Amino acid sequence: MNSTIIGVGASLPLRCMRNSDLPGDLDTSDEWILQRTGIAQRHIADGETTSLLATRAARNALIHAKISPQDVDLVLVATSTGDYTLPATATLVQRNLGLRGAAFDVNAVCSGFIFALDVADSFIKSGKFRCALVIGAETFSRIVDWSDRSTCVLFGDGAGAVVLRAIDDDERGVIFCKIHSDGNYAHQLITDGGVSTTKDAGLLKMSGREVFKFAVEKFHESLMELLAENQMTVADVDLLVPHQANVRIIKKLVELSGVDERKVLVTLDKHANTSAASIPLALNEVKNTVFSAKNVVLLSMGAGFTWGSALIRFQ
Ligand code: ACO
Repeated sequence: MNSTIIGVGASLPLRCMRNSDLPGDLDTSDEWILQRTGIAQRHIADGETTSLLATRAARNALIHAKISPQDVDLVLVATSTGDYTLPATATLVQRNLGLRGAAFDVNAVCSGFIFALDVADSFIKSGKFRCALVIGAETFSRIVDWSDRSTCVLFGDGAGAVVLRAIDDDERGVIFCKIHSDGNYAHQLITDGGVSTTKDAGLLKMSGREVFKFAVEKFHESLMELLAENQMTVADVDLLVPHQANVRIIKKLVELSGVDERKVLVTLDKHANTSAASIPLALNEVKNTVFSAKNVVLLSMGAGFTWGSALIRFQ
């Protein structure tokens, strides 16, 4: 038994904020942001909640997969900006779409989508569930410090979703998924606050250079691990979808690994860093071609620190 992606969907908040629309007192510029990060704009939630964006993305993925909502028996939402402390945002999506089965959230910050994919894939391979909605949904605009130019310009809001279904084909689908964490780095990228400490929601704080270095190292290490464990070379990769944090992190990966730059998907210019939503949002951008690719590789790194990789074979 294997699992494979049969549908992709996304949802972005209506409001689009270009670099030139950022608050005037930030002491930044379109030129700096574009050159240092590759970001030209981001979508910012006004009234939209994380669960609303997740619900819309999931609905679009179900339509794309051409399956009935009744077929879904598992809903996972990867998020660190859920609507409430409890219940899980996944249960709100389940209610909104009238789904059955089990629903819960996965919090691995920017790596959340790959962590949730691994959980859903493992459940399907074990025979416990047959059809999962795996959603990445975030509203980071609500936790960034809008007076800190070194962080607030980096993030955007949005949601992406895939439908993952069981197939009787060991040659196709999710071939490999590997997730890692190292809590020693927990304070390098943190949104403090919460019910056990200050009770306030807290604001995001980041050691940018340290995160940058770690992301380059782990993207490269994870890609090499994935290739070695699947007897592949970089030439076998048809599409590489890295978490969208900074275009310079992606360029370093290209330099170190020798992967053909034309095979690497970059959506930072449109979406900025949408944390757990960035990979499914990116997949949605190329959904007409992704299903004809042979080897699609996903890579992520996020707060925790967490990192992971996945190999999905469509042909
Ligand atoms: N506009 C203008 N100047 C800025 C801005 C800005 N938006 N942000 C920082 N600067 C300034 C700094 O204040 C500093 O000025 P100084 O030299 O006078 O002190 C100068 O630019 C250089 O600062 P650095 O921190 O060295 O800038 P760097 O080129 O490293 O870029 C950045 C900073 C974009 C945060 C980078 O380190 C980065 O992308 N790190 C990765 C972090 C990341 O992407 N995190 C996302 C979450 S984790 C994840 O998703 C993987």
